[in-house]
Amino acid sequence: MLRIRLLLLCVFLCWSPTISIIDDFNQLRITFRTWEQSIAMAKSFINQLTLEEKCHLTAGVGGTCAGNIASLVRVNFSGFCLQDTPSGVGDGVLYSTTFASGIHIAATWDRDLFYRRAVAIGKEFRGKGVHYAFGPMINIDRNARHGRNWEGFGSDPYLSGENAYFYTQGIQDQGVIATAKHYICNEQDTHRSGVMKGDNDPIVYSANLDDKTMHEIYLWPFASSVAAGVGSIMCSANEINETRACQNNKTQNDLLKGELGYLGNILTDWMGAKSTIDPILSGLDIDMPGTDGYMGDVLVKFVQNGSIPQSRIDDMVIRIIAPYYLVGQDQNYPTIDLDRNVMGNNYLINREISRAGMILLKNINNILPLNSSMNTNIYIYGQAAGQTNCGLEQTAWNTNCGGALYQGGGSGFVRPSYAIDPLTALMQKGRENHFQIRYITNQNDFVSINRTFHDRAFENVICLVFISAWSEEGIDRTDLYTFDNGEQLVLTVAENCYQTIVLVNSVSQLNLERWIDHPNVVGTIWTGMPGSEYGYALVDILFGDYNPGGKLVFSLAKNDSDFGTDISFIGDSNYTEGVFLDYRHFDKYNITPRYYFGYGLSYTNFSFNQLNISQVNNDDNQNSPSSIYKQRRIRLYNNFGYSGLYDPIYTITCIIKNIGKFYGSEVVQLYLNFPIEAQEPLKILRGFQRVYLEVNQSKQVALVLTRKDISYWNVINQQWIIAHGKYTVWISTSANNADIKLQGSFNI
Ligand SMILES: *[C@@H]1O[C@H](CO)[C@@H](O)[C@H](O)[C@H]1NC(C)=O
Ligand SMILES: *[C@@H]1O[C@H](CO)[C@@H](O)[C@H](O)[C@H]1NC(C)=O
Ligand SMILES: *[C@@H]1O[C@H](CO)[C@@H](O)[C@H](O)[C@H]1NC(C)=O
Ligand SMILES: *[C@@H]1O[C@H](CO)[C@@H](O)[C@H](O)[C@H]1NC(C)=O
Ligand SMILES: *[C@@H]1O[C@H](CO)[C@@H](O)[C@H](O)[C@H]1NC(C)=O
Ligand SMILES: *[C@@H]1O[C@H](CO)[C@@H](O)[C@H](O)[C@H]1NC(C)=O
Ligand SMILES: *[C@@H]1O[C@H](CO)[C@@H](O)[C@H](O)[C@H]1NC(C)=O
Ligand SMILES: *[C@@H]1O[C@H](CO)[C@@H](O)[C@H](O)[C@H]1NC(C)=O
Ligand SMILES: *[C@@H]1O[C@H](CO)[C@@H](O)[C@H](O)[C@H]1NC(C)=O
Ligand SMILES: *[C@@H]1O[C@H](CO)[C@@H](O)[C@H](O)[C@H]1NC(C)=O
Ligand SMILES: *[C@@H]1O[C@H](CO)[C@@H](O)[C@H](O)[C@H]1NC(C)=O
Repeated sequence: MLRIRLLLLCVFLCWSPTISIIDDFNQLRITFRTWEQSIAMAKSFINQLTLEEKCHLTAGVGGTCAGNIASLVRVNFSGFCLQDTPSGVGDGVLYSTTFASGIHIAATWDRDLFYRRAVAIGKEFRGKGVHYAFGPMINIDRNARHGRNWEGFGSDPYLSGENAYFYTQGIQDQGVIATAKHYICNEQDTHRSGVMKGDNDPIVYSANLDDKTMHEIYLWPFASSVAAGVGSIMCSANEINETRACQNNKTQNDLLKGELGYLGNILTDWMGAKSTIDPILSGLDIDMPGTDGYMGDVLVKFVQNGSIPQSRIDDMVIRIIAPYYLVGQDQNYPTIDLDRNVMGNNYLINREISRAGMILLKNINNILPLNSSMNTNIYIYGQAAGQTNCGLEQTAWNTNCGGALYQGGGSGFVRPSYAIDPLTALMQKGRENHFQIRYITNQNDFVSINRTFHDRAFENVICLVFISAWSEEGIDRTDLYTFDNGEQLVLTVAENCYQTIVLVNSVSQLNLERWIDHPNVVGTIWTGMPGSEYGYALVDILFGDYNPGGKLVFSLAKNDSDFGTDISFIGDSNYTEGVFLDYRHFDKYNITPRYYFGYGLSYTNFSFNQLNISQVNNDDNQNSPSSIYKQRRIRLYNNFGYSGLYDPIYTITCIIKNIGKFYGSEVVQLYLNFPIEAQEPLKILRGFQRVYLEVNQSKQVALVLTRKDISYWNVINQQWIIAHGKYTVWISTSANNADIKLQGSFNI
């Protein structure tokens, strides 16, 4: 027993240096509550309501916010304000920070940053008096062309789940209710039947998938969000197995409220309700925006004639009110003023995330970082280097606009109050360091572009070529190429400039094949969807003030068809690939992508040693907080259920050392190979830690495998089951087998 206690103590202590979560938790002095306490308070609140008042709360009403739950003056209830987005306060409000988007924070692979970004976002929602923040967006990047991939966290459920957890906690720690979305299987926007395309689309796509795939891929991040204690979940516009998400008894009542033990409310994506009785009996609690008349006041008659039980209405209203008590919105919540300036110094964390999520893809002969006293002659090409022609408030794409992209479009877009494009930041750097800069942002002006190659100055020049790819809600991408033939621009410059560096400003997957192997393309940085500090963040990386350490959150295929999944243009979207998505699919069919999931270079190098796998004995601390999450931070509002799924079972440690010449970081990635019984892909991501190290410094990294991490969904038993046999553990720096650094195993 003593040995076990020491081990646990060590697990805790050995962790603290690498976790270092900056936790200004509860500076607000909020009294958070448990779900049990909040539900009890909600019950006594609704006891004073009439049936009319209860029904009134179940649908949105008109108001200042994107969604509004009405006030009840009689009982001193001031209503709720609900607002987009997952990456800052959106819907066109003023004085709001345009944060690096979901796909970009995921690429940091840094839980500390996941949390700090969410705290900063939560502060802005709270500061403006918003009660519900619509996020996290946790649909899986199943289709490379999905227009909303930039809002989410990539193609892997574990990575997405960790993001979901820390995002939810960061938001709710500010007293704001997080809203996980879009539940569920909203992996394309074509025929999703949402508000953006009108409701007159006769085809609504149905995501058809089996039970194992549902649990292990698409439900996984929602489960993490529920464990974090999320107060609200938004059902999606599409169908699952031919039944609409917002009236799907199986997904809502069975999976979410039943199996996951979810105690919060379900609200519709805009116009997601299509009738009254079916959605309500299938678990829907709130109709948004509420103007369609399916729910709200009309429910009084349905209760009176017995077609909806009174108990269901009470359950709905308890679920609507409980989250309010859960995160302490009854205590000094700010009044609503959407244009209130609440940005504070959030640009600082935004810049940190922006550079932490950029990914160094190619760096021949260490061309990067540039030396600001040597590489002073800089030519800049491409529309994506500079500002847009259309102003910063464009939420939808217009081919005349161009310009650097800070986020994608649609309801997830946050109107920037300012934004620093790369050209502006390079100009500033140039002033300080006496650069000679030339730029051409009209990328179709090949006459002028060609002329630059004959400049007197075109000698020992560094050519920076900026390319971009945009997408937005409501529309999926037509291909995986860049805007305005950026590929041709790269090739034209590379033909003439032997030090060409390409900067890729993209919403999600891109096909790089037309230019990536060009011998003059000596450097490539994936700049992602980096938010309004883009230019400064990039310059930090280009000149070595920041050592890049971001990692891909999807693979980049050589051929679009290699992904094996695509948008469906007919009614069915059959998820026939099952759990074989992205790297799991590439492994299965032995396909080599251009760059693997998890890949990204650094200016320094690392060594890995001393893999150790040890079993955690839970008998010793059965009555104490013991999950991986609980060991980090526990909140009263968490909801782990009683399943023990998040209890740690194994601790995996190794030692990582910086053996290069720069301070920098590596993401230690744990891939697991399951026994045959589990019928899993060759390897599955089940742990990661981003470690920052000084030159010559080494650290022990401790990764934890929870019960859920080593289980598979057994469709017969309808349970998570630990398989019997040998589990292989790989410590790697990407999903590429060639990047595996350490290997071990355990038997069960
Ligand atoms: C109404 O609620 C506010 C806070 O939301 C509180 O300050 C006030 O005392 C309440 N008034 C009554 C009559 O309960
Ligand atoms: C969808 O149908 C498949 C195949 O019948 C089944 O395995 C799965 O559980 C169903 N899922 C839902 C959410 O209805
Ligand atoms: C809806 O799901 C619940 C929970 O699984 C189940 O008890 C109930 O029978 C289902 N209702 C229908 C109509 O299928
Ligand atoms: C109950 O009332 C609603 C609303 O008036 C009506 O649409 C529905 O048909 C009624 N159902 C029955 C069984 O009377
Ligand atoms: C940059 O180049 C200058 C001049 O050659 C050299 O002195 C300096 O050490 C270089 N800086 C770095 C960081 O390599
Ligand atoms: C620019 O130069 C390339 C060769 O590098 C040539 O193929 C192309 O035709 C030229 N374009 C124009 C408009 O001169
Ligand atoms: C990409 O794959 C498709 C379908 O497998 C094939 O027809 C095409 O030739 C491939 N393209 C390249 C460039 O390999
Ligand atoms: C999807 O699966 C259903 C049921 O198996 C089948 O009827 C339909 O044809 C499939 N659709 C496509 C596009 O494969
Ligand atoms: C890291 O090591 C690889 C091969 O071991 C080498 O090619 C590369 O130049 C090194 N990178 C740095 C930044 O030292
Ligand atoms: C592995 O961890 C166990 C438990 O902490 C410890 O007893 C053992 O010495 C470690 N082995 C190595 C090689 O570090
Ligand atoms: C790192 O270690 C090497 C080899 O021991 C040594 O030469 C070098 O000075 C050390 N660098 C730093 C910054 O400590």
